Amino acid sequence: MAMTDERWGFLTNYPGRVFGDDDEHLDGLMDRAVAAGLPSIAISKGAGQLLGLLTSMTPGRLALELGTLGGYSGIWIARGLSPDGRLITIEASDSHADHAQSEFEAAGVGDKVEIVRGTALDVLPSLAQQLGPSSVDLVFIDAIKTEYVDYFDSVKDMVSCGGLVVADNVYGTGSGWIDEGGGTDDFNRHVANDPEFDATTVPVGGGMLIARRR
Ligand SMILES: C[S@@+](CC[C@H](N)C(=O)[O-])C[C@H]1O[C@@H](n2cnc3c(N)ncnc32)[C@H](O)[C@@H]1O
Repeated sequence: MAMTDERWGFLTNYPGRVFGDDDEHLDGLMDRAVAAGLPSIAISKGAGQLLGLLTSMTPGRLALELGTLGGYSGIWIARGLSPDGRLITIEASDSHADHAQSEFEAAGVGDKVEIVRGTALDVLPSLAQQLGPSSVDLVFIDAIKTEYVDYFDSVKDMVSCGGLVVADNVYGTGSGWIDEGGGTDDFNRHVANDPEFDATTVPVGGGMLIARRR
């Protein structure tokens, strides 16, 4: 039996049906974002569930996200944190950050989430100084795909032992897949060759890389 587009669509939605779907707030979040002019490029529901689960498998004291958009993935991360845990999420677009701020508040996680405005590569050096080494339990990378290697190099010392780096779209997007020269093959191999991390990729959404610091 071949993998068809129809089957792939069914499998993509399968985790939501079996393991719990979006709640009412998350369910309407991207419709509200698109109505406000944000692009429809959030992670899939299955990827959100995985991200929340992975966050909850760490101590969940501090998480860092690169690329906030409308707050969809950030809410999954925030819900996986420990009760006093917090998420710092970096967003280059003021309009995206404004929209996400209201979504974080409406979802009841506004007190756990701080949006830092600016481009990730500009913001990360001062954040690294402020937070210190081994201070972050989970980093989620979801901003500019061609900058993933630089993001990884900027955040890796901040990741705690046993902490995770997760990255989205590592197999590609609608504009190109890894077998066509799309995706983030350079980044995937860069992480694979880092002796401080164990890593793999999973076919969730556009492909997720999960790396754990030794
Ligand atoms: C794919 S979307 C993030 C989706 C979000 N993580 C989610 O799943 O709900 C990428 C976001 O990164 C932002 N962005 C683009 N360039 C950036 C940069 N250099 N630094 C930080 N954010 C950036 C975009 O404005 C956009 O909101």
